[in-house]
Amino acid sequence: MALRRWAQTFAGGQFASGMARLNARHPWSHNDHFHAWILANIPARRGVALDVGCGRGELLAALSPYFVTVQGNDIDAGMREKATARCTGLSNVTVRGGDWTDAPGPVDAVTMIAVLHHLDAAAALQHVRRILAPGGRFLAVGLARPVSAVDHLWDLASTVTNPMIGYVKHPWPAAGKPQPAPFPVRDPTMSFDELKKTVVEVMPGAVMRHHLAFRHTILWTKPA
Ligand SMILES: C[S@@+](CC[C@H](N)C(=O)[O-])C[C@H]1O[C@@H](n2cnc3c(N)ncnc32)[C@H](O)[C@@H]1O
Repeated sequence: MALRRWAQTFAGGQFASGMARLNARHPWSHNDHFHAWILANIPARRGVALDVGCGRGELLAALSPYFVTVQGNDIDAGMREKATARCTGLSNVTVRGGDWTDAPGPVDAVTMIAVLHHLDAAAALQHVRRILAPGGRFLAVGLARPVSAVDHLWDLASTVTNPMIGYVKHPWPAAGKPQPAPFPVRDPTMSFDELKKTVVEVMPGAVMRHHLAFRHTILWTKPA
């Protein structure tokens, strides 16, 4: 709260607009940044992977070499078109619309990047638990509403490191104005602690961690 109050002051406003200018000069995808984490944690059995809310299909393409079949689902027709175009030539990738819970299981991995807060979290987690094969893995990268002091400290650390990471990834300033988000977005309503309570109720033993880039990760392996 103190951070939010400070951000509303003149000094806070100056700091925020300076940061926004820096970030626009060195933009980077906070979602694609976590592909390395997902690829480092894919399960041993790699038959079918389902990426829910696949957006432009970048993760589908990244998963393609590792799974026999990669299924992408997105509610948005424009996103499905982009994902299909992105995965042209990747014969093991399919992109579908419709209700993602209609996808037949079992699957070896379910991935979600910046998607769980678009869904009813408890219902979505229960469905993931149902369709995962024994030994299958849920790998999610999410956003939560900052509420606790710990959440705000992670937000502050993410704010400060954001332009540094951007500078390392893209040392040369980007031309043009800041671009709008390239996919449908929604503000998270659940806090990290609220979501964690739901996650461990549905998926006992799940590991949920804060990260920089205003994101957290959830990793759960369905018991064999
Ligand atoms: C913030 S974007 C993230 C896209 C992608 N996962 C990425 O890493 O760039 C959220 C995506 O979830 C999709 N989405 C939202 N609700 C959905 C639902 N009920 N079923 C499937 N996709 C959904 C949106 O259309 C959007 O493409």
